[in-house]
Amino acid sequence: MSTTVASSPTLVSNLLALLRQRQRSLVKRGKANPGLAMLALTAVLYFWIGRLRAGKKGPSRGKAIPHLKTRLFMLDVGYKYVKARAEGDELKFVQDLSKEGLTLTTEFVGHCLILAFEPSSVQHMLVKNFENYPKGPAFHKAFFPFMGTGIFNADGAAWKNQRALARPHFQVTEYKGAAHIETQINQVFGILDEVIVKRARLDAQDLWSRYTIDTATGFLFGDCVNALDIPQSKFVSAFNYTQKVCGWKVRLCDYQAFVPAFEFPQKVKDMDAVLLPIVDSAIAKEIQRRSQAEAGAENEHQHDNLLNHFLNSVDENGKPFDRIYLRDMLMNFLLAGRDTSTNLLTFMCYNLGKNPEIMKRVRDEIFEVVGKDRKPDHEDIKKLKFMKQVINETLRLYPAVPFNIKTCLEDDVLPNGYFIPKGSLVVHSSYVTHRMKEYWGEDAEEFDPDRWGTERVKVVRPFMFFPFHAGPRICLGQNFAYNQAMNTMTRLMQKYTWKVVDGFVPKPESDITMYSRNGMQLIFDHYRD
Ligand code: HEM
Ligand SMILES: *[C@@H]1O[C@H](CO)[C@@H](O)[C@H](O)[C@H]1NC(C)=O
Ligand SMILES: *[C@@H]1O[C@H](CO)[C@@H](O)[C@H](O)[C@H]1NC(C)=O
Repeated sequence: MSTTVASSPTLVSNLLALLRQRQRSLVKRGKANPGLAMLALTAVLYFWIGRLRAGKKGPSRGKAIPHLKTRLFMLDVGYKYVKARAEGDELKFVQDLSKEGLTLTTEFVGHCLILAFEPSSVQHMLVKNFENYPKGPAFHKAFFPFMGTGIFNADGAAWKNQRALARPHFQVTEYKGAAHIETQINQVFGILDEVIVKRARLDAQDLWSRYTIDTATGFLFGDCVNALDIPQSKFVSAFNYTQKVCGWKVRLCDYQAFVPAFEFPQKVKDMDAVLLPIVDSAIAKEIQRRSQAEAGAENEHQHDNLLNHFLNSVDENGKPFDRIYLRDMLMNFLLAGRDTSTNLLTFMCYNLGKNPEIMKRVRDEIFEVVGKDRKPDHEDIKKLKFMKQVINETLRLYPAVPFNIKTCLEDDVLPNGYFIPKGSLVVHSSYVTHRMKEYWGEDAEEFDPDRWGTERVKVVRPFMFFPFHAGPRICLGQNFAYNQAMNTMTRLMQKYTWKVVDGFVPKPESDITMYSRNGMQLIFDHYRD
């Protein structure tokens, strides 16, 4: 591999220096914020500034985007938004906006904010004119204290380098099968057996969030955080907290300092208390391996997890990754891989629990292809066609990343003819586009895996469906995610069955990734013919 650095004495001493390096600036990163005091006072002013700024820029080409209808300097929409968010209806709120138009503009917190829901607009931003739509400064600023310069929060050279380094690791791992879930799936079975004996209900979201953090850390670090054993793990609650805060910061954009985040520095410390020792021990092992290699001992490069792989690579400036960069990298992959997979498993359980006839069809397919107790292999997984339809239908209705925001670098025109002024924030939403009646038909809101069947799938045109994003920044873990979900569901459904607690209605919402505000209450039982 061209990016791999061969062992040499200077590298060993570099690594030693890294190990000694003190925690660079993590504390400074997590500075506490001023309270909400000034927010109300300044809000009106910001909307004015935004209106003036946006007002100056008439379209130099293309059509002007229709304005979202607002009154009282947007306070009506602002109020409705905050209310919807507080009540857990943010997704619905944005979906309702799309009924006013598929391309809309407004001034929000001092910026021209554009909502672009048409598939052709999404394709334009993610693929055709990708270079013009980076994540941008507001996003970087919001996420820096938590994610540093990791892949999710990077643009330009740093992003390109990390992406190129990580890609081969994903390709290799996809075909290693599902060995990485073995320990955790057995822990899940143990937990389920217990709740069945107690005839208790179970919050499947909580279970899957601990399961996926363990499988992801195992896969990424070669070392798992054991959240399944320790339900109230500090790591998990800190991870939840920081995401909530960062989600709000992105939404407030330039005014993110108003998001109260007093516990932020402590939460970052709680996570670092887990991540930094993992990084340090990997560095120490690598130093040992290299000095043995120098002494002539037979010693293969260990690239069995992503951390090792990065340890043997260099950053965008040609330097070895330092421990903070490595920590950021781990945090980013964890964020990318955990909540998204949790969301998929949680809502799959929901949809199957609500639709017993679909559950039966999935189970029949499993029994036919894999059997009642065999572990599925890579070939089996490929044959589980109906399960894949169920996954796609779940990702359509409950896409793990329901919104995404980009910054427009230079004046641009969308394929539908609308003008986007330079500096605009452009929001697209898989959640909204995946549920548009114009594209999916009158039953767009209904769960129907058969719409992915061979006859109807032709109707799915490009960019009606993009749960994994698209273009150069498409999800690196897509195949990993399908494989993990299919392996997990196969093992689960061979042994168990479940239904949704009577009267339980999940409340999907999103900080960065989607989850159900009130969890996912299910009742499990052993499966018997
Ligand atoms: C159902 C599961 C998943 C869904 C729906 C999903 C979806 C997405 C989406 C929408 C993005 C783009 C985010 C953005 O640019 O703001 C993304 C990026 C990414 N995903 Fe996933 N993901 C899933 C699972 C995973 C897993 C399991 C991993 C790794 C273990 C992973 C790794 C990544 C990485 C590294 C990126 C960043 C790519 C880049 O910026 O170049 N994802 N994913
Ligand atoms: C973390 O958030 C998830 C929802 O995303 C929830 O199911 C889980 O119970 C939370 N865990 C903790 C320890 O707060
Ligand atoms: C599911 O969606 C993916 C895109 O994410 C697509 O490539 C695949 O063909 C779909 N599978 C089925 C069975 O519809």
